Parts: sequence; C-alpha cells; structure tokens
Amino acid sequence: MNKKTRIFAVSNQKGGVGKTTTSVNLATALAALHKKVLIVDLDPQGNATVSVGLHRIQGDKNSYTVMTGRDTVMDSVKHTLIPYLDVLPASQELLGMDIELAGIGQPQFFLKKALSADLDYDYIFIDCPPAVGLLTMNALVAADCVIIPVQCEYLALEGVADLMKTIEKIKRNFNPKLSLHGIVMTMYDGRSNLSKSVVGDVRAYFGDKVYNTVIPRNVRIPEAPSHGKPVMLYDFRSVGAQSYINLASEVMKRELAIMANSDLKQAM
Ligand SMILES: Nc1ncnc2c1ncn2[C@@H]1O[C@H](COP(=O)(O)OP(=O)(O)O)[C@@H](O)[C@H]1O
Ligand SMILES: [Mg+2]
Repeated sequence: MNKKTRIFAVSNQKGGVGKTTTSVNLATALAALHKKVLIVDLDPQGNATVSVGLHRIQGDKNSYTVMTGRDTVMDSVKHTLIPYLDVLPASQELLGMDIELAGIGQPQFFLKKALSADLDYDYIFIDCPPAVGLLTMNALVAADCVIIPVQCEYLALEGVADLMKTIEKIKRNFNPKLSLHGIVMTMYDGRSNLSKSVVGDVRAYFGDKVYNTVIPRNVRIPEAPSHGKPVMLYDFRSVGAQSYINLASEVMKRELAIMANSDLKQAM
C-alpha cells in the first residue's frame, strides 16, 4: 500500500446517525481537492454505493468478494461520477459474513489484508454497518483512525461507550495504531434545546475530540442519494454541503497535526 494512505473507519453501532452521509461527503470533499479517495462500502444495505451513483451488484466484484479473497481491490473498485473518487461497492452477501467466516483463521484481518495491496489512494473511508460485528471489527483492524458520527438526539451516546471499548480492545489486540480521529455531531436542529444540550453533553465528555463543525439538519442531505449524488454535487450551496466542506477542512487540519507529530517523533 502507498505508505501515506490514511484509512478512516466511519463507525457507530446505531443506525441512522449519519455514518454513510459522513463517509460519502467527506470523501467527496477531499476528492474535490484532488486527493485520490476510495469509499469501502461495508454495509450490506449498500447506501454509500448508491449515494455515489452506483448500484449494488450481486455476484460481481465487491467488498464481500474482496474480503473473502476472491477478487483484488484494484480489480473491484468502480469509478464514480466524481473525479478522484472510487468506491468498492457493497453486496448483500456481506449479510452472511459473520456466520460464514467466524470459524476461519483470523477473520478480523480480511479487510486489512485486502487493503495492504499496493493501492494508489490518499484516503480510504470505510462506511461501517450499524453493528459491532465482524464487519466493523474488520474495519477497525484495517483503519488508522475512527470517525464517530453522533446524532443530536436523546440517548445520543448510547452505544458509543461500547464502541470506545471495542476500539480499545482492537487497539490492544490487533491494531496498536488505531486512534479516535474525532466525533462529528450530526442532524443538529438549532431551534431545539435538546440538540443544544446533547452537543454540550458530548463536548463535556469528549472535549476537543468533538469537531467544531456541527452538521445541521438539512433537507437537501436526504434528497441527494435519491439522485445518486453526494449533497455537494446535488446542491453545493446548501448548508448541508457547506457544513461537510467545513468538516473536511477540519479533518485535513487534524491530519496535518497528526502527520507533523509523527514526523517529529521519527526525527527524535
Ligand atoms: N444532516 C442531516 N440532515 C437531514 N437528514 C440527514 C442528515 N444526515 C443524514 N440524514 C439522513 O438520515 C438518514 C440516515 O443517515 P445515514 O447517513 O444513512 O446514517 P447511517 O449510515 O448511520 O445509517 C438518511 O436518510 C440521511 O439522508
Ligand atoms: Mg449507513
């Protein structure tokens, strides 16, 4: 693999919190800056695949056939309508993965192995399914860091504590470099006291791990996938698109700080 490829797992065991939206739009924003980006769709529902204009393809090359070693990543990625952005599509076959692979060797390393091929990407975003099963484990073992989208609603942090424990466990046992890149608050409603108090609570708990950019609730975001487009392409001026651009710039800033830090450590 290109030494500089950075792999992000976008994960939260809750469904509907903005994992796919965040994966797709961060990936698009970075591709717009001419970074070579790959989205790995690891959710059997295949929402990320559809959101960048492709269809889930049963039987064809996809993240399942790649993880099971049938196909290589390079043979299986598809170009999207966005220059510099590729996707490794999902397949419903991913649904049976837990059962099928649980007894085989070290099943949590399948994705890492596949992504350790010589890939020419600057960033890879793994869109995780809403469960801490084998697929999410594979994502966390393969990733450098994790982005956790948290919805601004009651019980927002439910499940995040479990995810943090899983991250620690994976770090200890399989992937020492894994770190939490950041937490992004999604679907913020400025008129709702609940939204405000949830953001306050999450910031009080996770401190500066929470990105400054908060993604507001915006109707253009759920409209975009039905047009097979990331919201940045569907309606560039919408607050949804603009807030993901801001988030991408914050993610890049953190990346620069992480890189500078690791260069410094190497130099010492
Ligand atoms: N900021 C937002 N404003 C309005 N709707 C949103 C926003 N973010 C996500 N959604 C919608 O909420 C639903 C769940 O989001 P999604 O990204 O698919 O979550 P997950 O991948 O965690 O299940 C989708 O219909 C999506 O379009
Ligand atoms: Mg999703």
